Amino acid sequence: MASNFHLEVGADRLATLTFDSPDKKVNIFTRTALQELERVLEELSGRHDVGCLILLSGKPGSFIAGADVEEIARVTDPVEAEAGSRVGHRLFAAWEALPFPTVAAIRGVCLGGGLEISLASTWRVASDRPDTRLGLPEVQLGILPAWGGSTRLPRLIGIAEALDLILTGKTVAGRKALKLGLVDALMPDARFLDEVRDFALERAGQKRRDDSGAGFKELLLEKNPVGRKILFDQARKKTLEQSRGHYPAPLRALEVVRVGIEQGVRAGFDAEARAAAELATSKISKNLVHVFHLTENAKKENGLAGAEPRRVRHTAVLGAGVMGGGIAQLIADKTGLPVRMKDVRDEALASGMAHAAALFDKQVQRRRLTAPEARRRMALLLPTLDYSGFSRADLVIEAIVESLGVKQEVFAETAKHVRADAVLASNTSSLSIAGIGARTPERSRVVGMHFFNPVDRMPLVEVIAAEGSDPAAVNTVFAFTRKLGKTPILVRDTPGFLVNRLLMFYSTEAFWLLDEGCRMEDLDRAMTDWGMPVGPITLADEVGIDVATKVAHILRDAFSDRLPVPAWLDKVPQSGRLGTKNGKGFYLYEGKERKGPDPSIYSLLGLHPREEAPDPGAIADRMVLPMVNEAARCLEEGVVRSAADVDLALIFGTGFPPFRGGLCRWADQEGLNQIVATLERLESAVGDRFRPSDALRATAEAGGFYARFG
Ligand code: NAI
Repeated sequence: MASNFHLEVGADRLATLTFDSPDKKVNIFTRTALQELERVLEELSGRHDVGCLILLSGKPGSFIAGADVEEIARVTDPVEAEAGSRVGHRLFAAWEALPFPTVAAIRGVCLGGGLEISLASTWRVASDRPDTRLGLPEVQLGILPAWGGSTRLPRLIGIAEALDLILTGKTVAGRKALKLGLVDALMPDARFLDEVRDFALERAGQKRRDDSGAGFKELLLEKNPVGRKILFDQARKKTLEQSRGHYPAPLRALEVVRVGIEQGVRAGFDAEARAAAELATSKISKNLVHVFHLTENAKKENGLAGAEPRRVRHTAVLGAGVMGGGIAQLIADKTGLPVRMKDVRDEALASGMAHAAALFDKQVQRRRLTAPEARRRMALLLPTLDYSGFSRADLVIEAIVESLGVKQEVFAETAKHVRADAVLASNTSSLSIAGIGARTPERSRVVGMHFFNPVDRMPLVEVIAAEGSDPAAVNTVFAFTRKLGKTPILVRDTPGFLVNRLLMFYSTEAFWLLDEGCRMEDLDRAMTDWGMPVGPITLADEVGIDVATKVAHILRDAFSDRLPVPAWLDKVPQSGRLGTKNGKGFYLYEGKERKGPDPSIYSLLGLHPREEAPDPGAIADRMVLPMVNEAARCLEEGVVRSAADVDLALIFGTGFPPFRGGLCRWADQEGLNQIVATLERLESAVGDRFRPSDALRATAEAGGFYARFG
């Protein structure tokens, strides 16, 4: 039977233990791997011919990716979860107690349990390869480092730095790890194995390091309970602000770290195990693990069946506005390919270039890029007012004004300047892809590629296959989206595609609530309390009120029976309010800074806000349930392929709260029969638009979204 660990002991008393999970791309501490590690530890504890032991990975690009997520997904019994934590404590304590020093040789990702065994090693060294990342990402799955990490890390690098890693789940590169004291040495990747051996040989037979377990930062803080209290209080406040109380894991981890520091290692381990029992079995952790699975499964999708993507070597972007500038910058940044950026106005080109330069500057400031590298990438952007360079383009992405006539004309014109097999993609938010391509020769190569604003931050791209789209063109866009570091979702060419369609049902309901006398800030607060990143009124300001109302009209025309909009809607943009972009919207702005809601909105629209605050739960139902109702229709119409796609698209495209697991998963958990009943109640109390769709009723009967469209 293939095993996970291979032990070799050399004549120089240097031993290497190589972790190499059979049949897996990365090393994972599965149940079997842990059992094998236990046997290896038994053998090692009795070896007297070892001077120093190196822990190596047999995988070329990664060290250890952590514990087995499937085990976390599966566990529902708190007793079992606690036992799972204690297994890690026992094994890593045995590792720490080996009668010779150990060196964790970290090359590539070292996460979760991988970092925890490293923390229990005498020494840690890392390769300087760019993909070396160290971290404890457990909170992102709604749990905490519970194999000793929450207790050992603060002892090694100090409380403040440890909390920064544990409470956010962020990872650090090798250089930062060295600076933090998380690793003892950083080694050039080309000579990594040789240098690790030299490092280990120098320490062979030495006594264990005398500073392990009691770093000086810790002692300083330990002697200063007042300083420590301030530190924990600040971390708690920051965590509460960031999680808005929706994510219990970081707060629980904070308490565990405090126990470990104040009451000692053993108490820390006990606290870890108890917290693991509670968190790993919680609904929120299960939802976050579900989102993790959605993300992992999405990586395996390839677009339409039966066609290979074409290679993209040269690209062009039409339009240097908010979106075009962002897309061109992204291409230069992530693919290293040259990008022609065409606009009809010189000023637009200048501002598109300035936008791209600002994005690169930000990365330099954050030390993600060196200044020369940023300059090199910036030089890939080639602004133009004509079609020069388009003849070489394999892919053209259009992001010009949202007008069908103009886009049709521009596509037909572009086709004259590119090869017949160049893929032409449109970033339209609401127009039909087939319609845009109607006048383009070889129109089967016209595909939708719908990014979200801001391009550099939003991880989703809807890839839209129109009727008659060439699968190779669709898959080219799909594959290229992934190269850009974004998650592509395949969507059918229907009004609003998926995300804007669902979102419009949510936003227009906010406008109806405003019409009924709800105050803007109450609507926003109800939804941010529910977990949305911004409320619906703020969202309209951020998207641009002109854009939002335009899309609202297009979708109202498409779904007139169920998406009425208030008669006053156009008055808002007509009054010169475009939102954050011109500093005038539903809210007041001073420069970029938002002040309170603009009270003159109410008189402009002839509305009379009520003083008493409405029930936030009832408000959330009014806005979220229409999305659920419409999601069932989308799935029945085949707009996307699965409930999982709906969930991932809303999380990545709108920031739908991950702790709820996605719209469909949330609805399934609430119970679709219950949701149908609430919609029926709203239908009679508020209006026909709430009538439960046949698609939703059928989905309820089939046992839920995932049962029917899983
Ligand atoms: P924008 O108004 O900032 O930029 C449009 C640019 O296109 C302008 O610089 C304009 O000069 C240029 N342009 C107009 N006609 C042109 C032509 N014939 N050739 C080359 N350039 C031309 O608009 P924005 O916001 O960047 O939107 C562009 C497209 O992206 C629209 O289709 C919009 O629906 C879509 N979109 C917008 C999102 C947003 O949040 N703003 C989100 C997702 C998609």
